[in-house]
Amino acid sequence: AAEQRDTWTHNTGFILAAIGSAVGLGNIWRFPGVAYESGGGAFLIPYLLALLTAGIPILFLDYAIGHRYRAAAPLAYRRMAKPAETLGWFQIGLSFVIAVYYAAVVAWSLSYFVYAFDLRWGEDTLGFFTGEYLQVGDPEISTTIVSSVAIPLVLVWAAILVVLALGVSRGVQRVNVIFIPLLVVAFLGLVIRALTLPGAADGLDALFTPNWSALLDLNVWISAYAQIFFSLSIAFGIMVTYASFQRRKANMTSSGLVVAFANSSFEILAGIGVFATLGFFAHQQQVAVADLEGLTGPILSFVTFPAVISEMPGGNIFGVVFFAALVLAGFTSLISILLGVAASMQEKFGLGRRTAALAVAVVSASISIALFSTTSGLLALDTVDQFANNVGIVLSAIVMTVVVVWVFRRGEVLRQHLNAVSTFKVGRVWIFLLGLLVPAFLVVMLVQKLITLVTEGYEGLPGWYVGLFGWGMLALVILAAVVLTALPWKGRDDPDFRAWP
Ligand code: PHE
Ligand code: NA
Repeated sequence: AAEQRDTWTHNTGFILAAIGSAVGLGNIWRFPGVAYESGGGAFLIPYLLALLTAGIPILFLDYAIGHRYRAAAPLAYRRMAKPAETLGWFQIGLSFVIAVYYAAVVAWSLSYFVYAFDLRWGEDTLGFFTGEYLQVGDPEISTTIVSSVAIPLVLVWAAILVVLALGVSRGVQRVNVIFIPLLVVAFLGLVIRALTLPGAADGLDALFTPNWSALLDLNVWISAYAQIFFSLSIAFGIMVTYASFQRRKANMTSSGLVVAFANSSFEILAGIGVFATLGFFAHQQQVAVADLEGLTGPILSFVTFPAVISEMPGGNIFGVVFFAALVLAGFTSLISILLGVAASMQEKFGLGRRTAALAVAVVSASISIALFSTTSGLLALDTVDQFANNVGIVLSAIVMTVVVVWVFRRGEVLRQHLNAVSTFKVGRVWIFLLGLLVPAFLVVMLVQKLITLVTEGYEGLPGWYVGLFGWGMLALVILAAVVLTALPWKGRDDPDFRAWP
């Protein structure tokens, strides 16, 4: 049958979309806090090692599978080797979980973009965020919908629906071609402004002063790997899907290097911008940066930053640009996740593009509104993030590398595939990294993480709560993957599929 897949119309379109997926909330609100908590300047060592030994190799693996088997993750894995379909669904399931809370953060950013114009958050930014805005309650399941959050969430999901319905070239590519250059300009402006604030240098000192003893802590290493996976959008089935829309002649590895470099640059730049701004804050308060509170997670962007912005001359402009950057970065990543989910459903159930987009958007929007615009949203988000990223995706990467290299022995085929289309050639060391170093290292880290979570729980939360949003969520994703694999293929499961080149 003739191949009728929508494609990126040019390589730049693919690269911009892949950068759009990679550069996201992970760079702006996840990285600076994680780096600061995990050894500061010393964190750059595990971070760079994770990038070179696992990040880029797995990015290439995602690209190779997607481009060779030309389908979203479940079908691509199935075409590689039938039983591997379940792995594809597991990855897409994790992506779905992430999308549900990621959308909430994009929605908050949208609200704060509006609030920044008149610094609506006032003096008590913590009270405003958790009280007036989120209306956070105890860790319990709540059914009270908070309209200040629900309205921007609905807007975000509606926009996602439109982009997905338009498809790869007319929707996703177009949004990225416009948003990513805008984001780069906005962000550079922010960083330059931050660096010219009094106290900026102290902030950079605080971020980059190495705490070498952190390197002895295995949890620091797992944070580095988890950050790289999340940040590069790898082992989620998302880059498999993006690569599947590349045309036959596509320089895959060179594009991958550009994307990885852009993402890490953006991450380090975000760290610099965020900590320069915090340095200014500490300077205003006449305290040391280390004595500031709320330097990680959502609190950093939605509590600490608003407080700093209020103190800055011309702070509302800075605030508007900052939250606009969060929206642009987050939205383009969210699109990639949902495209992965929608394309998988489309292929398995033989749906049209618009039907799949509608089904996926409605289901995920409902879940994200139910979970995250209620008063229990903030805590659920943190727990889900922790388990999806430090456990789920690490497991996904282990299974993926072992299955490809050892179980189905596709390492060499995929290496040759990449080399046949790309100018940057991949050596045998790639298979060594994927087959030995990556899984061995990840297994050690995962075991350590599991032991910590089982013996110490998570953040002092009640056991049933962690059981539900942490372990329960993971169990549900695995169950869903098994069930989806078992369902019959209504879509394209062409036995005569022929791989490129
Ligand atoms: N890479 C994105 C970020 O850094 C998040 C993401 C994760 C996107 C997984 C796609 C898949 O924010
Ligand atoms: Na990223």
